[in-house]
Amino acid sequence: MALDQIDIVEKIRRDLAELSNLETSQARTMPPDFYTSADFLEHEKEELFRKEWICLGHIGEVPNPGDYFTTELIGEQIIVARDHDGEVRVLSNVCRHRGNLVAEGKGNRRSFVCGYHAWTYDLDGALKTAPLMNKVEGFDRKKCRLPQLNTEIWSNFIFVNLDGNADPLAPQLATLESIICNYHNEQRNLLFSDEAEWGTNWKNLTENFMEGYHLFATHPKTLQPMTPTQLCRKVPGEGRWTAYRSYYDPEFPPRGPFHEDMTEDEQRNSVLFNVFPSFVVAVAANYTLYLCLRPSGVDKVAIRWGVAGFKTDPDDQEVVDYVQLCKDFNAEDRAKLETLQRAQNTRYFQTGPLAPDDLEGTIWDFLQYMARRFA
Ligand code: FES
Ligand SMILES: [Fe+2]
Repeated sequence: MALDQIDIVEKIRRDLAELSNLETSQARTMPPDFYTSADFLEHEKEELFRKEWICLGHIGEVPNPGDYFTTELIGEQIIVARDHDGEVRVLSNVCRHRGNLVAEGKGNRRSFVCGYHAWTYDLDGALKTAPLMNKVEGFDRKKCRLPQLNTEIWSNFIFVNLDGNADPLAPQLATLESIICNYHNEQRNLLFSDEAEWGTNWKNLTENFMEGYHLFATHPKTLQPMTPTQLCRKVPGEGRWTAYRSYYDPEFPPRGPFHEDMTEDEQRNSVLFNVFPSFVVAVAANYTLYLCLRPSGVDKVAIRWGVAGFKTDPDDQEVVDYVQLCKDFNAEDRAKLETLQRAQNTRYFQTGPLAPDDLEGTIWDFLQYMARRFA
């Protein structure tokens, strides 16, 4: 490791420590190398993406026994599969023979067959057959199951913890759960899902999703008429998450039909939250939009995203229109975040002031979380 690389990581740690000593009234941004240092990303992979709960997708992506999808998290190849008993498991997608991929893409299988020498695994990861291996003395099929990774389903979202040491997630999100419970995300059906990759650091997108300040300037025609910047209200966050409510413009048509549990106030706002580090969600009165973010390079983020709702037909015109709205404002964000990433390769900017708590307090919470992990 080159000396200047070590210096950058140490500098970022010092910057985070400094930031954690500031009052909220002095809230400010991190310097740009926080978003451009490839060496700091290696630390994030180990400290965050290996040790924390990371959302991989929505339970609606694997509704039936045998359904699976494959994904990658900081280089680890992963299968998410629903087994014959209906349990959703997260397995290592690396064959126990010579380490090839066991599955690719997504679909429905009775078992996973490694294409290299046809070792065949059950949906729960147990090795079922290994051709000609009975001729190997002492070969024990039972010792060759695919490793099962620490998994938790929370509010219909599938989380993995790679290192297996994280405390259970749900208790850490109990207060957040109490804030969103009347919206009944767990009763919403997956109506659309997709994957994308944007040319920006994963933290730029996390912060962008979580702040309402940019709505009027970046989304003047898509989001601002519905959820104007001026009506954003911060929710006091906790160690594991941050959130804000974006209230609907009174001129905008009601976003029902509303779940009977929802209060009048809840019918007038969406809750946007970030489960640290990289899972961001907007729970509106009628639809849920979520983005599971994984770094795929220092200036690249892999996005698995989707829309859920109380409706069941993805071709319903209202659903199609909502998904199109999401695609439209995502494109607006993407353009801003890709120029942001280019601009962050600078020596002429170090730090800037954050907007008031209701607008960018969520970024401040996120940076304080990063300071707890790295300072
Ligand atoms: S590497 Fe999978 S069967 Fe050989
Ligand atoms: Fe945006």
